[in-house]
Amino acid sequence: MAGLPYIVGNWKMNGTRAMLAEARAIDRAASRFPGVQVALAPPFTLVNAMREAASDIGVGGQDCHVQASGAFTGDVSAALLADAGADFVIVGHSERRALHGETNQLVRDKAEAAQAAGLGVILCVGETEAERDSGSAETVVTDQLAGSLPQGEEAAAKLSVAYEPVWAIGTGRVPSVGDVGAMHRAIREKLTATYGEAGAAVRILYGGSVNAGNASELLAADEVGGALVGGASLTAEAFTAIIGAA
Ligand code: G3P
Repeated sequence: MAGLPYIVGNWKMNGTRAMLAEARAIDRAASRFPGVQVALAPPFTLVNAMREAASDIGVGGQDCHVQASGAFTGDVSAALLADAGADFVIVGHSERRALHGETNQLVRDKAEAAQAAGLGVILCVGETEAERDSGSAETVVTDQLAGSLPQGEEAAAKLSVAYEPVWAIGTGRVPSVGDVGAMHRAIREKLTATYGEAGAAVRILYGGSVNAGNASELLAADEVGGALVGGASLTAEAFTAIIGAA
């Protein structure tokens, strides 16, 4: 496996200032597990406050614009995220691909803009249930990667990939450990074909209904280097149990 296990919480559109107490508790828990790299991606409104409140975890955004600045009302650039104290950004989450029409090319541009601003990138890919049922999951995921992997000298060094089957997100359903391993091996192949040796060091996270009960099994699957966690990252209790399982 490449590097320390990387356990990342995606708070999605959740997180008032009152929830900084959870972030502080997660930060304290992270300091007890030095063998695990822990991070949270709160809404933009909490990035700076969380950075100031926590010292042992990474803090990141959930999306960024491709431009560094300009007349883009409502958008947030990678440079602004970096200025707010973010270390990384998630791009290409299926909720953005589906609800905001984000294409592979746009996701790739965002990943490259983020890396140019000095941020790490977590690039998400994943198939829908219909694609899984029709037997095309691997093709769909490797095609997404082909279109959205950032290019450039340092691209692989500042990259993680998150495999999140759309049908497993927020549903309580997870793929079998065998299916997770098979997909992660296919992703690894694509990464080494794209980046050569550097592709072997890119961490591949699993995401979709990870919880305290299934984390150990999922994290032990082939080529799984961590987890991207939604609902179970919102409380310190649930998220700490996942960190402990890593
Ligand atoms: O990005 C994390 C995510 O989409 C998974 O969400 O709630 O199924 O853990 P959840």
